[in-house]
Amino acid sequence: MSSISIGPETGVIVTGGASGIGKATVFALAEAGRPVAAWDLNAAGAAAAAKEASERFGVAAIGIGIDVADTAAFATAIAESRATMGSIGGLVHGAGITGPGSVEDVTEEIWDRTLGIHLRAGAMLIRDLVPDLTRNAESAVVVISSIEGIVAHAAIVSYCSAKAGLLGLARSSAAHLGSRGVRVNAICPGFIETPMFAAAVANADVLSAYLDRIPLKRLGRPDDIARTARFLLSSDAAYITAAEIVVDGGVTRTTF
Ligand code: NAI
Repeated sequence: MSSISIGPETGVIVTGGASGIGKATVFALAEAGRPVAAWDLNAAGAAAAAKEASERFGVAAIGIGIDVADTAAFATAIAESRATMGSIGGLVHGAGITGPGSVEDVTEEIWDRTLGIHLRAGAMLIRDLVPDLTRNAESAVVVISSIEGIVAHAAIVSYCSAKAGLLGLARSSAAHLGSRGVRVNAICPGFIETPMFAAAVANADVLSAYLDRIPLKRLGRPDDIARTARFLLSSDAAYITAAEIVVDGGVTRTTF
C-alpha cells in the first residue's frame, strides 16, 4: 500500500479511463492503493491502462470496453468490475466527446449522442451503482464537468448543455445520497492538454490566444484533474459534497 493512501480502500470505476484525464485518474487512484476499473469505448486502451496501473502500483485493475451511452451494458460491466476490485466505493465519470454544432446548426443526432454520453450515462451509472456505493463506507462520486458548464462556447451547444447538466446531476445526487454517506461532486476543468483539447486547437496562434487568457500561463495537465478527483474521493474530502471545483488556472474567474 502506498504511503499516500488516506482511505477509503474501495474500488473506483473511471469512465473514459483509456485516455487523457480518465487515464491519469486511473493511475492517480492506483498510486493511492485503490483498485480501479477503466471503462472506455477504446477497449484496448482501457485494458492497457488497467495493466499499467496494476503493474506500477500493485492494485487490482480491470479494463472494460463499453459504450457508456449503452446503459443496458452497465449491469454486466459493474459485475465484472466488482468481481475484480472486490468492492465499488467510487465513480469518476469522465468519458466524453466534444459534440460540434452551435444552437443554429446542431443536429438531433449529435445532441442525443453528446447528452447520452455525458449526462444520461452519468445519471444512469450513479443510479445503477447506488447499491454498491451505499454498501461501502465513505463512497463518493466525481463527475467531470467543464468550465463550459459554467461559461459557454458558441460552437458546442450540446457539450455546454451536457456539462451544465452534470452540475445539476451532481447536486441532486448529493442531496439524495448524502444521508446514506455518499458524497457527489463535480470538477470543472479548464483547458487541459489531452487528445480532446489538441483536436480542438487549430494552430499555434489559437493556442497562444488560450495561453494569454490563463493567469497561470500554461495549459492544465491531466494529472491536475486526476489529483483533484483523487482528493474528492478520499477521506480528506469527507465534508465536501454538492460542490463544483474549478481547476482552470484561473481562466474563468479573471478578465485581464
Ligand atoms: P480524451 O478524448 O483524451 O478522453 C476521453 C475518453 O472518453 C476517450 O478515451 C474516449 O474513448 C472515451 N469515450 C468517448 N466516448 C465514449 C463512450 N461513448 N463510451 C465510453 N468511453 C467513451 O479527452 P479528455 O480531455 O481526457 O476528456 C475527459 C473528460 O474531461 C471529458 O468528459 C471532457 O469533456 C472533460 N473535459 C476536458 C477538458 C480538456 O480541456 N481536455 C476540459 C474540460 C472538461
